[in-house]
Amino acid sequence: PIQACLFDLDGVLVDTAKYHYLAWKRLAEELGFEFTEQDNEKLKGVSRMASLDILLSVGGLQLEDNVKQELAERKNNWYVEYISRMDASEILPGALEFLQQCRENGLKTALGSASKNAPIILQNTGLTPYFDAIIDGTRTSSAKPDPEVFLLGASELGVPSEACVVFEDAEAGIEAARRAGMRCIGIGSPDTLGEANRVVASLGDVSVALLQQLAAE
Ligand code: BG6
Ligand code: MG
Repeated sequence: PIQACLFDLDGVLVDTAKYHYLAWKRLAEELGFEFTEQDNEKLKGVSRMASLDILLSVGGLQLEDNVKQELAERKNNWYVEYISRMDASEILPGALEFLQQCRENGLKTALGSASKNAPIILQNTGLTPYFDAIIDGTRTSSAKPDPEVFLLGASELGVPSEACVVFEDAEAGIEAARRAGMRCIGIGSPDTLGEANRVVASLGDVSVALLQQLAAE
């Protein structure tokens, strides 16, 4: 049976994509080009520096590493300012209820996020107490689709991969889960998340019964 749930943060538990977008767009404007919401789709689940590379390629710019470091820092300062105002009202539909259900059913929980800002977001939204382990972008050396973040989460929980289910909204995250040997539920659209074992619109559509059904497959 399933013993643990591993959650991505951005796009699964909270809607921070809009803040990442605001900050990247502001940076693009300073650099003199437009960055659309459609361009922003390519950044979901991608690490900060890899996101900057995608943004710069949209603007047709090639910059030195030290300049890139400075730009990434500038973007992050704006982002941190936006998320400092977040509260529990920004938890996505069904997320809190499902985390509570995990607790009531004795399932262990871990966060598996690429974001170095994950701890502040959990704190501001009041989600920290719902996690037995928190793996954020400061704790891994390889980004998704590398399975490191989920393997580390499972090992901290002391649960084998085959007893874990990952919740992800990004293709790279689903690949990471599969490479970790874990079952995976996609949150979003089957068009992009087809590699997941199941795809649902939100955590409101997930139950512990569904997890045990997955385990039997
Ligand atoms: C992921 C987001 O969770 O974290 C990406 O989906 C983001 O958009 C990445 O770039 C890194 O986040 P941060 O907060 O460390 O810049
Ligand atoms: Mg995500």
